Amino acid sequence: NPLPKLFQPLKIRSTTFKNRLWVSPMCMYSAEDGFINDFHLARYGQFAMHGAGAVLIEATGVLPEGRLTPKCLGVWKDEHITGLRRIVDYEHYFGAAVGIQLAHAGRKASTIPLSQYGKRPSFRTSVDEGGWPEDVYGPSALAYDDNHWEPKEMTLGQIETVQQAFADAAVRADKAGFDFIEIHSAHGCLISSFNSPLSNHRTDKYGGSFENRTRFAIETVQRVRKVWPAEKPLFIRFSTTEWVEGGWTTQDSIKLAEILYQEGVDLVDCSSAGNDTRQKIPVGRGYQVPLATEVKNGAPGVLVGAVGIITDGEQANDILEQDKADAIFAGREFLRDPTFALKAAQRLGVFVKWNDQYERGRPKTRYSF
Ligand code: FNR
Repeated sequence: NPLPKLFQPLKIRSTTFKNRLWVSPMCMYSAEDGFINDFHLARYGQFAMHGAGAVLIEATGVLPEGRLTPKCLGVWKDEHITGLRRIVDYEHYFGAAVGIQLAHAGRKASTIPLSQYGKRPSFRTSVDEGGWPEDVYGPSALAYDDNHWEPKEMTLGQIETVQQAFADAAVRADKAGFDFIEIHSAHGCLISSFNSPLSNHRTDKYGGSFENRTRFAIETVQRVRKVWPAEKPLFIRFSTTEWVEGGWTTQDSIKLAEILYQEGVDLVDCSSAGNDTRQKIPVGRGYQVPLATEVKNGAPGVLVGAVGIITDGEQANDILEQDKADAIFAGREFLRDPTFALKAAQRLGVFVKWNDQYERGRPKTRYSF
């Protein structure tokens, strides 16, 4: 019997992912001044220790003002490299590939952790709380909603600075030893807000037509690809659709995926939404999988990752066996259960290596966890 696809290795450029069940990036809001600490090592380490094929470190600010919150991780200075390297080495010790999501929050910056939404009147963080309201910027001076700061419209100089910051961050990520990078272009963060006609009202070469709105994303990818080693994979996360009429659509994503594939992007991680409060999301089990499949079929060559309410091994494996996606990202299931990958293997009847320290805990039958 061939190995279930979920546990077949996937080689992208010179990185071999030992399986296709990967940890989706999830902000933990636990850093000071962007630095990795023991919490992050324990958190990210447990996934590798328990069989995840890849671990993708949460949205990490390429500039301090590009963080969502004052407690987000950062990679905007060389001092951050040592802590990141500690995590990379740990993941490698257990045979997981490790990536970092390079992010700029744009007009969603200087806010509070999502988990605190609803617990206070505003999502904004003030200067007193460590925020940076004066340095919040985006494609246009349009706030996401009343709970977020009104951004300043970026100057051409700022656009150049941010693009260079992505490239500089990629150099640091390479020095830290990361196997792959994911550029964050989803959920209303800076790049995705440039792409959308709803949040980008610019009249210069970065706004208006599809070509102009996506210029920021394309140039950023070009700069990153130039400094990121050719043998290392480059991913991008899309909000594949905004789920808003008149907004960014899956067809737009397909078009952009085709362009970015030519620019050296290997995989599109197909999330959705987060850029406009009018969104109507058909949330449900595997609800974003069809988006990944559309991109996969519409932009031949580029690999796609599926994400969103994928919570068991059979479901994850079926998506791959039916050629609906090439890899699976799971978020909350890994929060509930860091051993998700081992359980998926067991349920699919696949023998995977457990780390020696834990081997005696291996269940004796397929359903005895
Ligand atoms: C997220 N998500 C997310 N996405 C992203 O691109 N960058 C990030 O840093 C975060 N942060 C984050 C934190 C927390 C606590 C959660 C729960 C989610 C979205 C996440 O990666 C994933 O796309 C969604 O959670 C949907 O997948 P699941 O959770 O249904 O498997």
